[in-house]
Amino acid sequence: MKLSLSPIMLAISVALAAPANFKRANTLEITNLYANTASVGDSAYIDFFLKDAQYPRDTPTECNVIWQYGEQPPLNARCQNGAYYIKFPEGPVNFDHFTLALQRVNGTIPEKGQAVLDSNANGNAPASKWSCRKNAREGVNLACSYDGTLRINV
Ligand SMILES: *[C@@H]1O[C@H](CO)[C@@H](O)[C@H](O)[C@H]1NC(C)=O
Repeated sequence: MKLSLSPIMLAISVALAAPANFKRANTLEITNLYANTASVGDSAYIDFFLKDAQYPRDTPTECNVIWQYGEQPPLNARCQNGAYYIKFPEGPVNFDHFTLALQRVNGTIPEKGQAVLDSNANGNAPASKWSCRKNAREGVNLACSYDGTLRINV
């Protein structure tokens, strides 16, 4: 009887070890994503909330970055909980078309992913949920927002 059990014991120990060795599919949920540029000082602002099912204890968290529009955004920007880098891999951002990248700073499950946001300014992204309006308000040159939840695979 002991011999017939050992393959089962082996199967169980492999099954328990597997989750640590394989990357599990996960998605970051980004909501309330908006960005704008001001006419005064040409400052740029982007803000959103991030929810991560893999790290339910320290998300949702709010994320925002402020910089001079047309210049390189800060390279070390993080969400407010300190646990996610906010990156713009293409360098200086054009809000009509840019890549937003997110990367987990720490934790046992590494996460990294990105999404392209295109306002269809050039007609290249007709179904896009990211839209921008010029001169939407006094003092705001460009106001952009995402309709719904943006999911980024990590
Ligand atoms: C990750 O780092 C942040 C900021 O330093 C900290 O608040 C959080 O507890 C850390 N999480 C893990 C899983 O180490």
